[in-house]
Amino acid sequence: MSFTNETEKQKYYIDKCRELIKHKENEYGRKLTACVVTFGCQMNFKDSEKLMGILSQIGYEETEDEHADLVLYNTCTVRENANLKIYGRLGYLSKIKEKNPDMIIGLCGCMMQEEHVVEKLNKSYKFVDLIFGTHNVFLLAELLYERLISGHKVEDIWEGTTEVVEDLPAVRKYSFKSGVNIMYGCNNFCSYCIVPYVRGRERSRNPEDIVEEVKELVANGVVEVMLLGQNVNSYGKTLENPISFAKLLEKVEEVEGLKRIRFMTSHPKDLSDELIKVMAKSKKICKQMHLPLQSGSSRLLKIMNRHYDKEQYLLLIKKLRKAIPDIGITTDIIVGFPGETEDDFLETIDVVKKARYDSAFTFIYSKRSGTPAAKMPDQVPEDVVKDRFNRLLNVVNEISKEKTLKLQGTVQEVLVEEENKKIEGFVSGRLSNNSVVHFKGDVSLIGKLVNVNLKEAKGFYYMGEMVE
Ligand code: 5AD
Ligand code: SF4
Repeated sequence: MSFTNETEKQKYYIDKCRELIKHKENEYGRKLTACVVTFGCQMNFKDSEKLMGILSQIGYEETEDEHADLVLYNTCTVRENANLKIYGRLGYLSKIKEKNPDMIIGLCGCMMQEEHVVEKLNKSYKFVDLIFGTHNVFLLAELLYERLISGHKVEDIWEGTTEVVEDLPAVRKYSFKSGVNIMYGCNNFCSYCIVPYVRGRERSRNPEDIVEEVKELVANGVVEVMLLGQNVNSYGKTLENPISFAKLLEKVEEVEGLKRIRFMTSHPKDLSDELIKVMAKSKKICKQMHLPLQSGSSRLLKIMNRHYDKEQYLLLIKKLRKAIPDIGITTDIIVGFPGETEDDFLETIDVVKKARYDSAFTFIYSKRSGTPAAKMPDQVPEDVVKDRFNRLLNVVNEISKEKTLKLQGTVQEVLVEEENKKIEGFVSGRLSNNSVVHFKGDVSLIGKLVNVNLKEAKGFYYMGEMVE
């Protein structure tokens, strides 16, 4: 067979798999089911939509039940806990497979890009049928076909890629909002982080392709897009015709019918004045910025290879708040990085108090083998880290509470996202600043922008009332 491009080749394999699955359907007298479970970040979530898109074209019915004919775990390895979780759940899957030997178990994503993981799987988890990584998600149909035909385990891990495969199907979890990859990989090599090793070098998509995708999404009912990249602020620098992230945002803003634009993640070292200006005057870019701090200690930031110091970071926050007064700012913070002293930690607390985050994701440092920090001396004792973590959490939560109170009693535009899981007859939505509000309403509101009075601030969220 010869194909003019990769997409065409994969569509061929989708058809071949569909034939095989049809046979199984006839044999079983029912549809086959597939369950894709996502661990980790928005990138993985987006990849899972692509994986489910391919599986549903092959003929699998989507399910959330892991007693499915095909179960695929899209894994994360950013912290060790994520890995441990996978091994635990694999034990559970093996029990299900014992009762259904035809079941196919697949693993993909960041964890598979680590050699020691695949070695362990091959040695102790022999029932896994399919293993692939982060660079060849688009290859699922081809790999599955090989597995179905051969009956043997199929393993395909790429060390890296320059390829960006467009136009494969995707099944979106939400009809009205969607992630859009604008770049892949990361070049920053923060000394604690495994992402550059498992997601490869930074590659930006062409702006035309991104805008085209957004237009198509909008034509299919999407009103909010989340532009995704590990460091969106360095978007476009390595393209043949370089373009800034701010310029890309302006192009996306022009898409008619699109209501809201979000993006993540920003890196403080590359956040430009141009971007702040574009955000300030935009009608569609949400007033939200996720700006990972990691540490407030300039000494540690240097060892973390972050390329900014405490003062530069705080200056950025000041500029953002001045240009966009009601912006919601969130962050990521790591506690217990090797060599972190009490003084370093107090610098972090100081930044938290000055930046006044709307919310913060706080993480205990996790040693990732292969990263420079894993070999650093003075790993901080567990009890010290736990104590600092709790102290940080208290400060973060206190400030979050105060921040939510500020909008109490105001009327805000809300995109309704889903039925409330706990209170019958209620729906949940998000404000421009990404805060969540629950209020009385029915499913017909999902995907719509409505005005809601934020009656009561409840710490991290609001209880509201829709106004006509
Ligand atoms: N340990 C703890 N947290 C980490 N992160 C990345 N690597 C590690 C690690 N080794 C956090 C960072 C990053 C977020 C996605 O995960 O804060 O911003
Ligand atoms: Fe990891 Fe740093 Fe890249 Fe973020 S910017 S993915 S923390 S290396």
